Amino acid sequence: MSKKILAANFKTNHTRASTHEYVEALDSALQKMGYGSEVYIFPPATALDRFATQSDIRIGAQNAYPTVKGSFTGETGLEQLGEFGIETLLIGHSERRHILGETQEFIAQKYAWFKEQNFTIVYCIGEPLEVREAGDEAVRRYIVEQLEGIDTVYDRLILAYEPVWAIGTGKTATPDLIEATHTMIKNLSERPLLYGGSVKPANIAEILAVPGCDGALIGTASWEVESMLDMLSKVKGEK
Ligand code: PGA
Repeated sequence: MSKKILAANFKTNHTRASTHEYVEALDSALQKMGYGSEVYIFPPATALDRFATQSDIRIGAQNAYPTVKGSFTGETGLEQLGEFGIETLLIGHSERRHILGETQEFIAQKYAWFKEQNFTIVYCIGEPLEVREAGDEAVRRYIVEQLEGIDTVYDRLILAYEPVWAIGTGKTATPDLIEATHTMIKNLSERPLLYGGSVKPANIAEILAVPGCDGALIGTASWEVESMLDMLSKVKGEK
């Protein structure tokens, strides 16, 4: 299997202490495996830190505000991320769009700002159930809107297609649906494209074998390090 990108989104899970244990365990296992693929971990903001890893684990932030510093109560700016050498950011996750109310305009502004800082950006797109049920053209239109204002040729952009109805629900999109949607998205951007939505040890090999799937963004099944390692071993990256 060719080189894949695996990213773990902790969401609002794990503490500072448990994140350290997790990264340590993952790091030593990856060294033993001689793992060559890109692995990203997105811990909660309170657990961001510099980690003394030997393998190539990259730590990213789940969210940040487009500012160096300032008066944005509750937010994290570049200065705070810089303290830990963080240069990777998740933008556009459906939970931030739908639960936290981030608009496409604000998301695009955030994207442009962190692009200026040369961040690696994992940018999430994906349709809710009613749009999927309205058919392929409705999905295409929805995704085109989620790419509005986004520089889709940015060389540090990684896209993640995450159908909202498959996130945290145990319902995974079928390989055929992933392939069809990824083909459509690849016509909009040639950057690497991950799939996300109930990826787990039992289905990761099948999902990553889908043509046009360059990796996975994993929530729930990434929170236990054993489960993450199980998935990594199933898609052992080539050095
Ligand atoms: P899930 O979450 O793996 O729990 O479905 C994926 C995500 O939201 O990134």
